Amino acid sequence: MTVRVPAGEVELAVEVRGEGLPVLFVHGFPFDRTLWRHQLATLSRARRIAFDLRGVGGSGVPPGGDGYSLSRYADDLVAVLDAVGVGEAVLCGLSMGGYVIFELLRRHPARVKAMILADTKPQADSAEAKRGREELTQVAEREGPDAVIERLLPRLLAPATQATQPEVAGQVREMGRRWSLPGLVGALRVLRDRPDSTETLRGVRVPTLVLVGSDDEIAPPDTARAMAQLIPGAECHVVPAAGHLAPLEQPEATNRWLDAFLRALA
Ligand code: MLT
Repeated sequence: MTVRVPAGEVELAVEVRGEGLPVLFVHGFPFDRTLWRHQLATLSRARRIAFDLRGVGGSGVPPGGDGYSLSRYADDLVAVLDAVGVGEAVLCGLSMGGYVIFELLRRHPARVKAMILADTKPQADSAEAKRGREELTQVAEREGPDAVIERLLPRLLAPATQATQPEVAGQVREMGRRWSLPGLVGALRVLRDRPDSTETLRGVRVPTLVLVGSDDEIAPPDTARAMAQLIPGAECHVVPAAGHLAPLEQPEATNRWLDAFLRALA
């Protein structure tokens, strides 16, 4: 079932499947809720809730171009949970989706029952990374979303994915094309300006699963292991033959970890 959920000045496109423990999936940049297609299709023990961030896919674009911030994204998660009648959920985020969950922990910790953090990291952008965000903003404004995704693609997928699953690159391109230009530019600003979340994670007291692709260049395994060590009791697993998009590149291995984690929570 797909529903439209009001969230301030926009409506969000939200997909809800199944019954059971509620799991809210938060996609990264520049992807959309179809990043989670294999988890939405397969994790039948859970009530799976996935949505497009504001400015992306079926969700609305805030008027005026300044409707993007980490706090707005986090408040959108609350709007989604409220609309589907869920108080506390398992929050599952990939990369930027993780950064949004860190903000949710700061703003609305009572909504987080447990966390799954995939291919993400707590550190803020370095000065060099900030310059990269500004360059990418110029690419987006000059050449549009297609050019942004072509710049990013070489670092997103593992060599094994590129060699044996050419359709995955096509899926990534499709997700990138579903971003509006203001959505892209707004998200790049949010990414550039996000705070360091190390202290936030040290304060986490909910069960946490950290997953990372063995070939993730953006949030590599060593970074994931160090992040897991910040969170008391967190487990960390490496998904073989996956890059930055483990849930899409290696869905079976990813889903095995997700299923085991959710089973232990139920
Ligand atoms: C993402 O997948 O959301 C991005 O790689 C996040 C980032 O660039 O920091």
